[in-house]
Amino acid sequence: MIEIKDLVVKYRRKNEETLALDKININIGTGDIYTFIGPSGCGKSTLLHVLSGILRDYTGSVRIDGRAIDPKAQRIGLILQNYGLLPWKNVYHNTMLGVKIKNDQQVMDDYGRYILQQLGIESLLDRYPKELSGGQQQRVAIARAFILKPDLLLMDEPFSALDAISREELQDLFLKIWKQNNVTTAFITHSVDEALYLGSKIVVFSPAPGRILEVVNNPCFQLDNLRFRDEYYDMCMNLRKILDKG
Ligand SMILES: Nc1ncnc2c1ncn2[C@@H]1O[C@H](COP(=O)(O)OP(=O)(O)O)[C@@H](O)[C@H]1O
Ligand SMILES: [Mg+2]
Repeated sequence: MIEIKDLVVKYRRKNEETLALDKININIGTGDIYTFIGPSGCGKSTLLHVLSGILRDYTGSVRIDGRAIDPKAQRIGLILQNYGLLPWKNVYHNTMLGVKIKNDQQVMDDYGRYILQQLGIESLLDRYPKELSGGQQQRVAIARAFILKPDLLLMDEPFSALDAISREELQDLFLKIWKQNNVTTAFITHSVDEALYLGSKIVVFSPAPGRILEVVNNPCFQLDNLRFRDEYYDMCMNLRKILDKG
């Protein structure tokens, strides 16, 4: 369980102060996927930086399973929009980045091989990031995050740089692997469709400075053939209305 209480984040530069997040209160249950949606600049990435332990200058409290955030104690998987792969490492070494090195060798276990196979990248292990398409690079980033067996998975608009077909394909692949792990996930998106497709709950942010307008239960989550169902379009409309009012 992630508990965020009265979280306020301000950025200070010279004599300028930006209020990025204004009193965020939310709990994310263990094993849930929450999607976060809101206009550009409303503080979504800021929230993820706090959850990942990168950003420590905030007030309020953020606890993971009752403990303060500590990237050394908790395994936190991070997937970013620009994939975050190291250009000088091949696919194998990129996917194994979070894995402990044994006797100077990184060894892929059965689970790792299974994840690579599920993502369809097991034949690309000796390629370098620049030799891959955007969709393939993002698959490598997803593999790396899952192979880490994270306690918490943080995703910051991971599919927004991809074309529509690759995006839908990766959304489906991601959900399939996620279902086998049920890792607690905070997924940031600016797409209403994506928020509904991937989130069991959808957190709607106001324009900057970010406040939570509403936490919406998603009755469509994981329904079969969701993209073709009327409920999905009805929920999209509902979400758009909440965003417009904000
Ligand atoms: N390092 C920083 N220094 C100063 N201001 C920042 C910094 N990072 C983000 N901001 C500001 O904080 C606000 C929220 O940014 P961000 O969290 O990136 O929004 P989002 O991800 O929702 O687009 C914006 O006004 C942005 O300009
Ligand atoms: Mg952002």
